[in-house]
Amino acid sequence: MQDKINILQEKIAKAQLGGGQKRIDRQHEKGKLTARERLVLLLDEGSFEEIGMLVTHRSTDFDMDKQKFLGDGVVTGYGTINGRLVYVFSQDFTVFGGSLSETHAEKICKIMDLAMQNGAPVIGLNDSGGARIQEGVVSLGGYADIFLRNTQASGVIPQISAIMGPCAGGAVYSPAITDFILMVENTSYMYVTGPNVVKTVTHENVTHEELGGAWTHSSKSGITHFACANEVECINTLKKLLSYIPQNCEEIAPKYPYQSKADESRPELLNILPPSSNQPYDMREIIDGIVDAESFLEIHKNYAENIVVGFARIAGQSIGLVANQPAYLAGVLDINSSKKGARFVRFCDAFNIPLLVLVDVPGFLPGTDQEWNAIITNGAKLLYAFSEATVPKVTVITRKAYGGAYDVMNSKHIGADLNFAWPSAEIAVMGSKGAAEIIFRREIAAAADPEAKLQEKVDDYTEKFAHPYRAAARGFVDEVINPADTRSKLIRGFKMLENKVVKLPRKKHGNIPL
Ligand code: HXC
Repeated sequence: MQDKINILQEKIAKAQLGGGQKRIDRQHEKGKLTARERLVLLLDEGSFEEIGMLVTHRSTDFDMDKQKFLGDGVVTGYGTINGRLVYVFSQDFTVFGGSLSETHAEKICKIMDLAMQNGAPVIGLNDSGGARIQEGVVSLGGYADIFLRNTQASGVIPQISAIMGPCAGGAVYSPAITDFILMVENTSYMYVTGPNVVKTVTHENVTHEELGGAWTHSSKSGITHFACANEVECINTLKKLLSYIPQNCEEIAPKYPYQSKADESRPELLNILPPSSNQPYDMREIIDGIVDAESFLEIHKNYAENIVVGFARIAGQSIGLVANQPAYLAGVLDINSSKKGARFVRFCDAFNIPLLVLVDVPGFLPGTDQEWNAIITNGAKLLYAFSEATVPKVTVITRKAYGGAYDVMNSKHIGADLNFAWPSAEIAVMGSKGAAEIIFRREIAAAADPEAKLQEKVDDYTEKFAHPYRAAARGFVDEVINPADTRSKLIRGFKMLENKVVKLPRKKHGNIPL
């Protein structure tokens, strides 16, 4: 028996070397970790169980039968992160550049099937030259097998992609379907066609980093949710992200221990709004004043900064936060912020994460750029996402809630459970000046002193509408609250909504305006 065990151990040792020491050294020289080193960082110590270590490819063209590496360029299996089960695949760039062969794809599909069957997240660490060129269409078929599983798993189990090297061509569509993408600055890139093809077709000169690096995708395209300075930061962020998320759509997120306090008032919230409602402030200060200390994890931080989204905890319970950001473009809703908000709301709803919405929005952004690029369809995404969400939904209007944006930002009318407003809230069709100019135009023009008349009408409109009391009188706002009490109201509100159940009409699926 010992002889046989020795043979097994030799094979394991060989598999662990991937494409060999020289290629491992080359990987390190590029500032990258190997597939296995990444898994060591990601998973709880000693928890990894590998599946398919001895798999080899089946291709024979181009002398491929003479070049076989155990594992075939991807390390797959399961383990735990902070004690919670996850399924993982980690592409090994040292084996044919981590390229995807038929068997490489089969290994990924196998762990995805197990993850679906057993209800746990799938984490993919991507580092691949794309389709295994020597295999042709068989490799393309392998990709499609993964895409189908990504789609079927969407909304059932969380799927997270870390891009830690190249991810090009059609390969990008698997991460794109997953729920969150993290990228490492300077060593990872994603694009459908690389700089050479771009140069040939459009004559643009662009580097890998400019075309599809972490910064590009976290700030310009919004494809990636996190740009990380290095691989260690990437893996730590991924682990943190997972801590807010349940294992599957039937469960709720883990609750963190929280010692309830007799007094949850936060007087510092009284000092954040500037004296004039036209002045900016940073909504993150309000978020920090409301949620459990240091629990806020911002997502999509550098993209569409006029809306802030992320996870936090209130009394230990995971919540999803969507907040207008008056410090950027006055917090206006536009195409990108609507898309960003909508995708996040849908994730939270799919995975039973209650929503907290903080509102300070002057309306939708006007202009030809917005209209011609379909602000109507894109704004409707956010409206649709909030309307269809059945998780507990709570809104706090801190200042402006104007026009259609009032309706869209989780208003009572589209199903919010609790709507609070601060006394500083202004809830109306539009700002007082714009309103006065439209409805009193003739009267103002005919006045002896048009400016004084305008001011009189503005003051009148402000007194009538630029406050929360009309909405409160209608019940559109449940309670006007002292800002200092916001946290305690939310702790009680979310607790009250803990067992919320909503039955929706039976349908195959809705038709969100894509
Ligand atoms: C087979 C590949 C490979 C691939 C790289 N290698 N990509 N083998 N199929 N797609 C091998 C190389 O031959 C080399 O083998 C090793 O991986 C490392 O590659 P290098 O080129 O030395 O590395 P580097 O200089 O870092 O460049 C990395 C790279 C480059 C930019 C990714 O390798 C590259 O351009 N590869 C081809 C990318 C590509 O066009 N893929 C197809 C995309 S289309 P040795 O033996 O020397 O270690 C696609 C369609 C998917 O993927 C469609 C899905 C629907």
